[in-house]
Amino acid sequence: MEQYVGASVDLHLFFLRIMKEHAIFMEAAFQRKDSSFIRMADSYKTEFERLLLEVVKIGNRAVSRDVLESQEIVTPYTLKVEEQTQNLTGISINRNITLLEQKLRVNGICHEQELKGPIQRLNKRAIELLDGFIGFKEKVLKEVEECRMYTANYPLLLKHIIREAKLYRECLMALETKGCLCMEDRKEKYLFWNQIMMEHALFIRGFLDPEENELIETADGFAKDYAALLEEAREKNDCTMDGLLMKTKELTWKYREFKTAGTEGISSCEISSIILPLLADHVLREANHYLRLLEE
Ligand SMILES: [Fe+2]
Ligand SMILES: [Fe+2]
Repeated sequence: MEQYVGASVDLHLFFLRIMKEHAIFMEAAFQRKDSSFIRMADSYKTEFERLLLEVVKIGNRAVSRDVLESQEIVTPYTLKVEEQTQNLTGISINRNITLLEQKLRVNGICHEQELKGPIQRLNKRAIELLDGFIGFKEKVLKEVEECRMYTANYPLLLKHIIREAKLYRECLMALETKGCLCMEDRKEKYLFWNQIMMEHALFIRGFLDPEENELIETADGFAKDYAALLEEAREKNDCTMDGLLMKTKELTWKYREFKTAGTEGISSCEISSIILPLLADHVLREANHYLRLLEE
């Protein structure tokens, strides 16, 4: 359990922000008729922000260098795209958290004993909140699939964010029950994250303006490349994974460049799309997170 505090803090700093942004994307995509869903999504956003703020405040004493340097917590664009997204949607976004995250530093002192209790309580609250949020996402998906609800999010996007929330929950449960990190199995890791990366490309392709031909083709190319890697991973066993690791890294480095350019283009209004600026930054951070996992 030696890394319990550090591993928990690293996990929360990435995933709590991801969850609060899922709530924002859901909130922005509901229709007027579904005002109760809008309110629910907004309250999940607030709850995840509250937890994230608590983690950020103790983050300085436990965050790892790798996580800080990976830009999976914040990127140079996060603050700007939050302001833009708030202005575009009218959804309030707590940017104070982002400012504090930008100031996070590794101070090298381990506070394992002192922080163990607070972290245990925090993990418990996060799991409870996730149970509710996963249920909420599943309810929305069911409404959409049974054609009782229209939302501007694709059903696949809803399935995608359900899987991400379940992974977060699984990782927390692994820390709480076994004291270890989740997804130690490489094949499982590639299958999960390559699918996530592939689906990002599918969403980007589908949310770009139909006249953005070149970008649509590039996004489509990434979707196909990740689909091929998924196919390859399914056939491999753990001993023949090294080649796949290199290919996955190379593709994901290129993909990060594409997502960075996309975030810049969307936030400077040069790309025509229905992609919220914060969504562009969100998928960039997920690629950064995956690249860090690939380096482990
Ligand atoms: Fe996400
Ligand atoms: Fe994602």
